[in-house]
Amino acid sequence: MASNTPDTSDAQRPSLAPDGAGASAHRQPARVTSTAASAARVAAGGNRWIVPAKIAVFVAAWYPLARIVLFGLTDRLGANPIEFITRSTGLWTLVFLCITLAVTPLRRLTGVSALLRFRRMLGLYAFFYAVLHFTTYIWFDKWFDVAAMLKDIGKRPFITVGFAAFVLLIPLAATSPRAMVRKLGRRWQSLHRAIYAVGVLAILHFWWMKAGKHDLLLPKIYGAIMIALLGWRVIAWLRERRAARARAAGR
Ligand code: HEM
Repeated sequence: MASNTPDTSDAQRPSLAPDGAGASAHRQPARVTSTAASAARVAAGGNRWIVPAKIAVFVAAWYPLARIVLFGLTDRLGANPIEFITRSTGLWTLVFLCITLAVTPLRRLTGVSALLRFRRMLGLYAFFYAVLHFTTYIWFDKWFDVAAMLKDIGKRPFITVGFAAFVLLIPLAATSPRAMVRKLGRRWQSLHRAIYAVGVLAILHFWWMKAGKHDLLLPKIYGAIMIALLGWRVIAWLRERRAARARAAGR
């Protein structure tokens, strides 16, 4: 599902993480104007760094897969290559989820709106690595043996939580093209709020898996990052609500 070419033309691309840019661009004329203005700035060369930066991000995001392939070719995947690949793709799915969720706070903190143009690509890479993670499990680990999978899930229920996160990601990836944003209108933004549930389920999946091994350092680090990213949104939302109430009271 990840786009195979760096897409650099769009000023208000949708993504797997909502902050309204995709959907609200569709319904707010003011945003349309700002989109046109920003496109004009790009045309005038004001944001010249974006195209090379997008190409760099696009290429860098292949690193985790390239590493697995290289290790495979040089016999460095360890004693259990399937476990290595499952863990590596799982961790990179989580990394891309965190980076995607960090785009909006970073944009607000730095004031660099162009950061939004990276969000869709990053979200699709999260989905891409989730597909590899899931495929490694059901294909190379279990060989599509449903009975073996059910037995494993009985023993390791954290797999169900990962599966729930993956299922939630599917409609987000499927509705990320601009045509879908237009088609769904307001519903797009509501749908894409599911990314927060994906974040929580991903941490739960990771935590539960590592709790069985008494090795919670990484889940704690990623859990703290996720709390910061989601907490920031809750605070921003509460502030906006308070400001809207104050405006309404002042009228
Ligand atoms: C958004 C979706 C998902 C995320 C973010 C995710 C993330 C992770 C992470 C971070 C790990 C631990 C990696 C490590 O040890 O460093 C992991 C392990 C694992 N995940 Fe997922 N996962 C997801 C979906 C799934 C799905 C759909 C399945 C299978 C149906 C799955 C099956 C597993 C298994 C079996 C392991 C443990 C591998 C082992 O024991 O060595 N995950 N996942």
